[in-house]
Amino acid sequence: MGSTTTADKEETPAEQQGEVKICTAEELVLGCKVYAEKEGEHRLAELLSIHVKKGRKVFYVHYVEFNKRLDEWIELDRIDFTRPVTFPKPEAPKKDNKSTKKQTQSKNKKKKKDGKETSATPSGATPAAQGDDVMDLDNLNVQGIRTEEISREDEIEKLRTSGSMAQNSGEVAKFRNLSKVIMGNHEIEPWYFSPYPVELTEEDVIYIDDFTLQFFGSKKQFERFRSKCTLRHPPGNEIYRDDYVSFFEIDGRKQRTWCRNVCLFSKLFLDHKTLYYDVDPFLFYCMTRRDEQGHHLVGYFSKEKESAEGYNLACILTLPQYQRMGYGRLLIEFSYELSKKEGKVGSPEKPLSDLGLLSYRAYWADTIIKLLIENDSDYVTIDEISARTSMTTTDILHTAQTLSMLKYFKGQHVIYLSDQIVEQYEKTEKKKRRSINPELLIWKPPVFTAAQLRFGW
Ligand code: ACO
Repeated sequence: MGSTTTADKEETPAEQQGEVKICTAEELVLGCKVYAEKEGEHRLAELLSIHVKKGRKVFYVHYVEFNKRLDEWIELDRIDFTRPVTFPKPEAPKKDNKSTKKQTQSKNKKKKKDGKETSATPSGATPAAQGDDVMDLDNLNVQGIRTEEISREDEIEKLRTSGSMAQNSGEVAKFRNLSKVIMGNHEIEPWYFSPYPVELTEEDVIYIDDFTLQFFGSKKQFERFRSKCTLRHPPGNEIYRDDYVSFFEIDGRKQRTWCRNVCLFSKLFLDHKTLYYDVDPFLFYCMTRRDEQGHHLVGYFSKEKESAEGYNLACILTLPQYQRMGYGRLLIEFSYELSKKEGKVGSPEKPLSDLGLLSYRAYWADTIIKLLIENDSDYVTIDEISARTSMTTTDILHTAQTLSMLKYFKGQHVIYLSDQIVEQYEKTEKKKRRSINPELLIWKPPVFTAAQLRFGW
């Protein structure tokens, strides 16, 4: 009874790989791990696809332990054949489907249970003082990445039917399908796959109009379109304007084409999730910068008209040409300003990308530290922080934990500001970050009837 079956035993990394040997270009097969030159260094890379282009062999590679956005096509001269190549393990014949399925199910069950524990919201100021119900603070999965695989069929089904979808790293979107995008004065290199029409994926470069986000395979087509099109701002109401940026609110149901275009474009930079077909259940909040030509899109986020999970943001993107300039922070801040007006707490939809998590963590940390520094009374509860910032208690606890600000004191968890954290905060404050002025937000939370919320009509 107590013995372990083969199906229960996890393979070690060494067992997961096949033969390791020096080989020639002709011997390379899919799944081989080679050393390939990347920015002057040799890195371990897995061959995901092999093609012959204009009579020459090319390989689509994924650099092991690097983000998928670095995946690329390389030629033979980038592969180091003086180092051994690791071959994939030959597939064992499938026999005991049932036991594998059972094992996956039981693993999933466990995950679900863990998920419930970690998402539990503590009440009051003493989230940890609950005996056996203490939150597992080390495992607050705010990024929400799930590790279980879904089948290719399920993935395609999700792509087709779900407005907002979490995609696994599986088969469908393995390869970047566009090499270059021209948008206004910017030349952009896409990071990931996006389901643009197949004809466009055969072009070396495509053109995207930065007002309509309409896409074209040639410059001529694009220029003809632009000379006729009069749209100079996102097609919705301007609900916020300061001396730096504006925000427009767009209803996915009323502006389907525009919203689908924005989703198609953002999928080029989002691996984990996106929405492209069913835009109806979403509102889009688009941030622009103004010039004499009009309102240029800088970034946006989508938000479900009604979120059963309490999400206040579904997808967020800063257009790559504007990243690392503080716009992402403004978008996040704006999403919380909307939640404050709604009188609700909210959190971004999971899973979060690596860049999404970094940006949120930075925003959450600064918001909490600012509130604590500016707070008049000596004592503030986690629930009060949540009420004043519209952040969830889970996100607050996660942030405090990440910054080692959470201390266990007299039987309860308290957030503790060390001198080092205050100093660090004051240093970054000197950067004079821009922020949203809530008084300039002219907005009432939109109300939708049940019929208006129904999908696919
Ligand atoms: N490396 C390190 N830190 C980063 C990076 C990075 N590449 N990008 C953002 N950060 C952190 C930094 O702490 C930064 O603050 P700092 O510059 O003061 O140090 C903070 O995030 C905010 O940076 P911003 O310049 O305001 O953010 P940006 O405009 O670049 O937008 C965003 C961030 C929206 C995540 C952008 O990287 C993006 O569009 N990525 C592609 C799409 C994506 O991954 N979206 C999130 C998916 S999850 C979801 O949608 C719920």
